[in-house]
Amino acid sequence: MPAELSPIDKAKFVAARRAVDFVMPGMKVGLGTGSTAAWMVRCLGERVREEGLKIVGVPTSTRTAELARQVGITVVSLDEAKWLDLTIDGADEFDQQLALIKGGGAALLQEKIVATASDQMIVIADAAKEVAQLGAFPLPVEVIPFGWQTTKALIEETLVSMDVMSREVTLRMNGDHPLITDEANYIMDLHLKRIGNPRQLALVLNQIPGVVENGLFIDICDIVVIGHPDGLVTVRDINAGAEHDDRVEFAATDNIFADLAD
Ligand code: 5RP
Repeated sequence: MPAELSPIDKAKFVAARRAVDFVMPGMKVGLGTGSTAAWMVRCLGERVREEGLKIVGVPTSTRTAELARQVGITVVSLDEAKWLDLTIDGADEFDQQLALIKGGGAALLQEKIVATASDQMIVIADAAKEVAQLGAFPLPVEVIPFGWQTTKALIEETLVSMDVMSREVTLRMNGDHPLITDEANYIMDLHLKRIGNPRQLALVLNQIPGVVENGLFIDICDIVVIGHPDGLVTVRDINAGAEHDDRVEFAATDNIFADLAD
């Protein structure tokens, strides 16, 4: 029941619910990964089941693919869809230009490929994800396991000449072992505290052999939908330079609240 949701989950839910209004019949939709994106997948599934909305979804992780199938969304691969109308995904941070840090859920590689292959990307987030400058959230970088310690040293060396506040690099773990992504890679988390020039950092990191992709999404996101626990949502469109507020009502009988697992 919605009353049992935490304030943060209410904020994520209303952002997700508002964002799925952008999905039109016949669209090919990129489905993001994470707890906010999971709400979006549930909301979209509800539209598929209750309105008979005909869409196909391209998931950005195995866990999103599983949830999408569970809620009734037809899942296809990116190679089948080729190009998408819209991707809706969460973010770890976004700034005024809608530059993002993503990859907190270790899915940044598929997320970036899918978002880049979309006419439009909408980010859904609670208000705490908005920052004046990116970098408080550790920047995830996906690296191949072969020679990862050398790649880590090269990342550290590269950071010396970058405009960042801190330069600690850690290998993301899953218990006693390195976390393995869907693409069988590792994740390095770059604890930078402040990123002075995200565009430059994104380019430079991707020049390092062993780095597959970084979690900086620059000039990819078009719209951010910011949710608040009281049902208020702010829709900010970077291309139109416009922002407006809406309200999403909670439906006490809503089916999607029956399943709160991410
Ligand atoms: C996964 C991501 C997520 O979108 C990001 O971590 C936000 O997650 P959440 O919605 O759970 O806060 O980038 O790789």
